[in-house]
Amino acid sequence: MAKERKNIQRGCWSSNQGFILAAAGSAVGLGTIWKFPGKAYTGGGGIFCLLYLLVTLLLGLVLMLGEFAVGRAAQKNCVAAFRHLRKGWAWVGFLGVFSSLIVMLYYAEVGGWVLAYVIAYLREPELVFADPSAYFAELTGQGEGFPWEGALLFPLIFMLLTAFVLSGGVRGGIEKFNALAMPLLLLFLFVLAFATLSLPGAEEGLRFLFSVDFSKLNASTLLSALGQCFFSLSLGMSVMVTYGSYLSSGENLLRSVWAITGLDTLVAFLSAAIVVPAVFATPQISMGEGGSFTFTALATVFSGMPGGVYAGLLFYILLFFAALTSSVSLMEAIVSFLSEEWGLPRRLAIRSSTALIFLLGMAYTLSYGGSAAALPLRFFWFDSGGVYPVSLAEFIELLADRLAIPLAALASCLFVGWVWGTDSACREIRQQGKFSFSWAGLWSFLIKYLAPPAIACILLGGLFFGLSLS
Ligand code: TRP
Repeated sequence: MAKERKNIQRGCWSSNQGFILAAAGSAVGLGTIWKFPGKAYTGGGGIFCLLYLLVTLLLGLVLMLGEFAVGRAAQKNCVAAFRHLRKGWAWVGFLGVFSSLIVMLYYAEVGGWVLAYVIAYLREPELVFADPSAYFAELTGQGEGFPWEGALLFPLIFMLLTAFVLSGGVRGGIEKFNALAMPLLLLFLFVLAFATLSLPGAEEGLRFLFSVDFSKLNASTLLSALGQCFFSLSLGMSVMVTYGSYLSSGENLLRSVWAITGLDTLVAFLSAAIVVPAVFATPQISMGEGGSFTFTALATVFSGMPGGVYAGLLFYILLFFAALTSSVSLMEAIVSFLSEEWGLPRRLAIRSSTALIFLLGMAYTLSYGGSAAALPLRFFWFDSGGVYPVSLAEFIELLADRLAIPLAALASCLFVGWVWGTDSACREIRQQGKFSFSWAGLWSFLIKYLAPPAIACILLGGLFFGLSLS
């Protein structure tokens, strides 16, 4: 009886299109928009893009299909899903929830900063343009005084918005919000691409980005493309298992996987086509990725561009949507775990996890980049060179990027390929012949033999050679 009630209470998507947009919303995030362009640049432009496409087709798509199959077959939160399919394997789900939690700690903060920049471009763009580095330092607490806005106010608003979307449930909240945010995001991307590509000097950047130079092909570029692909597609962290669990058996997983991967890749390439040419057209700055590049170097691009204030505003709004749709999916993995496994009412699960992440997340900003209000905490990390001290903010990122996510991805891929088994997965995908899956043999081969060693390389490369995943 109790079990039945639980099943009735579980959410589900209202349409396959809604599911596709939500999963694409999860995938398209900070990693896609602010890391991909930088990595494409350092990875040699065209050759990186080509490798990225290749690993996305051979591995990303393959693992995503496996995760959706697990979720849909079990119709449960990620911990219960792994346990339901094979006794003793709940830990894969736990690893996923744990990674989601850690990623959320910095997603909440950075999402807050993005929101702060949306407001800044509306309210005081001249201040941002006057001294981009000082503005960013002030926000993130490397200036004087306590960073009220960067550590408290904006991350809080960001988390409250995430909680608000979640409280509408799967169909009324997550699906509805993504159906609005994703088309807007795409529209803004196209408008921005048009704006930056018309800058003088931009063609050179575009040429660099899409001309393939095979002499730049090497193992570290390949690993970097691999890591980026897994992170960008939100794989390994049980988020796709959770989203898959709200699907009914009438949906075609294969078609969805193609659409989601296609959308994420489109956004990644468009972002690169916006950022790289813009950097080529702005001689004062050099290419980079992540926080300070996105907030400071890009300000120089926007300040030198006709209509730059509007372009900047559009860019941060789109980044904000991308971050919010991803954080919603990360939180859904945590919330569905808390409510279904621990029996918390959904509302309480949302509130408590929001509060926890907000409080812990604050420590991220307070230890970011040698913040003046820095917490006197010391952490350590290691690579082949030995053990070295890091700040808490660095520790959180390293733990997620180098350990938790690749480990969770490896576990879930071994689970699909070897524990649950590719036969069961194919049966789940085919639904008694309702859907044809002509490349099932190839898929099984890839997930059993190619994906595990590839992910193991990311794990080892990150742990010992300091290769960054996201
Ligand atoms: N894909 C997201 C991005 O590109 C980041 C991410 C990694 C993520 N794993 C996730 C988001 C799991 C949601 C769920 O930024």
